Order: sequence, then structure tokens, then C-alpha cells
Amino acid sequence: MKMIQTRNYLRLSGIRKCFDQFVALDQIDLSIREGEFVCFLGPSGCGKTTLLRIIAGLEQQDAGEIWQAGCNISQLPPEQRDFGIVFQSYALFPNLSVTKNIAYGLQGKKLTRSQIQSRVEGLLETVGLPDAGHKYPAQLSGGQQQRVALARALATEPGLLLLDEPLSALDARVRASLREEIKRMQRELGITTIMVTHDQEEALSMADRVVVMNQGGIEQVGTPNDVYLSPTSPFVADFVGVMNFLPGTLVKPDELLLAGRPVCCPAEHGLETDSSVNLAIRPEEVELVPVGHDAMLSAELESVEFQGGLVRSRLRLEGSEDRVMVDLSSRQQSTLNLQPGTWMGVKLPSQHIRLFAA
Ligand SMILES: Nc1ncnc2c1ncn2[C@@H]1O[C@H](COP(=O)(O)OP(=O)(O)O)[C@@H](O)[C@H]1O
Ligand SMILES: [Mg+2]
Repeated sequence: MKMIQTRNYLRLSGIRKCFDQFVALDQIDLSIREGEFVCFLGPSGCGKTTLLRIIAGLEQQDAGEIWQAGCNISQLPPEQRDFGIVFQSYALFPNLSVTKNIAYGLQGKKLTRSQIQSRVEGLLETVGLPDAGHKYPAQLSGGQQQRVALARALATEPGLLLLDEPLSALDARVRASLREEIKRMQRELGITTIMVTHDQEEALSMADRVVVMNQGGIEQVGTPNDVYLSPTSPFVADFVGVMNFLPGTLVKPDELLLAGRPVCCPAEHGLETDSSVNLAIRPEEVELVPVGHDAMLSAELESVEFQGGLVRSRLRLEGSEDRVMVDLSSRQQSTLNLQPGTWMGVKLPSQHIRLFAA
């Protein structure tokens, strides 16, 4: 029977790590449920790999505890911990066949030859390479090598799968298909998984929960929906997805002045009236209408960029140097007949506005 997926499987508390004077991680508290797929998402250098390595015991934290499956593993060496890991560079043994690469971690596990053989065959099946056992890493594509690395990480049936940018070295098409496969595999096996990535699209599409990191700390933890629709800080708003930030002044709890024009906004933001604020709104939430309609703002269209399914326009707000990006579907934009130099009405629907202190 499948475990109920609500039990905490991994718990980090008060993790801190310094490299000499440099604080790489501080005050990291996080709980991960059994069977959950969690992504550590953040810009390069924010501490994602360091945190993953601390969970694996490949790096020793300076403070804090790590609990896995009810045991305090904070001081255990990696070989006594229960995880499989995949790195960005495939890190396969070049002189060993695929079968031997995968079987590597099974040596010394008191398995017979035929048990090992059937386990390897099962894993090759799982990662979609049933006929590759006799090949050598150099005979495989990058995507195939990464599948083998996954099989090797799963060979000992670990309780925890750790993936450090496993798709970053692959080209876009392979990346997209492997993304789906890793997700399917993870669901089927029900294995608790942490994946490090700097790619927000990857994190949003794969994770049950996203841990957004910045400069050694956690900015926000939430479902992809949470972090995309309700970012709790300007950093998250900016890093996850594309966001317009427009400076304004709050003149009433539910009204601000933007480029000298009144704009309605939600009242629950905890900011003081008369304070300087940044209004945040996603390009797909802004509406464009012909001039003369009941728009709050006017803007001059500066550029229109075709991006396939959608079209991104950039407009300068009347009476200011502030720019706003607007995403429309190709169909919407063709009815508006957008031409650089034309003036448009811009609507910022109140329910899509988020406010941050300036
Ligand atoms: N062994 C190390 N010695 C010194 N500095 C390190 C070491 N490992 C990581 N760092 C520094 O810690 C910070 C976080 O690194 P890392 O965890 O690799 O970031 P990320 O994986 O998010 O890109 C970086 O500034 C990096 O230079
Ligand atoms: Mg890294």
C-alpha cells in the first residue's frame, strides 16, 4: 500500500554554513513530506548546491540539524546516509559498461549475481534504456547518460533522491522530455526528491513545492501556484516569472498614484498611506484597450515582440519614463493592430496588483 504523503520525511533546522568569512547559508528551516518533489530554486551562488550537499553529508554544516525518517543524521558520513544523487555532469565511470555503472552501488549489498542483473534490467527499463546495458558512457548521448546516472542513483532503492541541476547541460528538447520523464518516474516510485535548479520554468513545472532561495536564505516556500501568484517579496516576484514593477505613492489604502494618475489596488497590504510603493503586475495581467475607452492610464507603444504563442509589447506611461510590459495572445494583438508609436489605454486590474514597499 502507498504511504500517506503527509508525514515529514526530512527536516532541516537552523542550518548554517560558512566558507571562511563568507556566510553561504544561514537559518535554513525546512520540512519535506514523504513522497514530495521539492525544488530549490534561486540564482547562481545563492547556496542551493551547498544545502543539497549538506543533506547528503558531502559538506558539514556549522550549525543546525538534519533529520531523515525520524533519525538525526546531522553527523553521519555520506556512506551511512540514505540517498541517491545525480549531478549536472553525468559523472559516470567511463571505463565501465552501463550495467556496471548502475550496479556499482550494489556491490557489497549481499545480492547474488542474478539478483543484481535483474535489478539493473528493471532500472534500465524504468529510465527508458532497456537495451543499453552493454554500452559504454561515451557511446551515449548526454540525455542517455543522465538516464543512466538516474538509474545508478536509484539502484540501492534510497529513501531520498537528490538532483543537482540534472538537466542544465542538455539541449532544450532533451531537457523538456527528460523533465517529464523524471516527474513520471518520481510519481511512480513515490520517492522523496529534491532537485536543485536555477530555471524557474523547470521548478514550476516539476515541483510539488518550490523553495525560493536568495543569498543563503529561504525567501519563500510554496506550491508553484503560490510562488507565482502570491509572491511574498519583491525578490520572488521578480525571480519567478516576469513582473512589471511601477513606482507610485499610496494615497488611500486602496488607491495609489501612478505617473500622476489614480489607480485602484487591493487594500490589504500592510503599507502606510502616503508611502512610496512599487506596484507589481505580471505582463499577462495588464489589459490594453483603444484610447478613449475607460482606461486609467495612457501609454505609447514602443515595441512589439512576437514570441510565438504570445506577443510582448512594451509601452511608456504618459507623463513618465516608466515602462510596462504587456503579453497578449497573437489573436488578441491582431484585433488591436498594435503599431509602435500608437497610444493605447492601459488597465491594471485591481485584483492582480501586488504592492511592495519601495
Ligand atoms: N568549497 C567552497 N569554498 C568556498 N566557497 C564556496 C565553496 N562552495 C561554495 N562556495 C560559495 O558559496 C556560495 C554558494 O555556492 P553554491 O551552493 O554552489 O551555489 P548555487 O548552487 O546556488 O549556485 C557561492 O558564493 C560559492 O562561491
Ligand atoms: Mg549549484
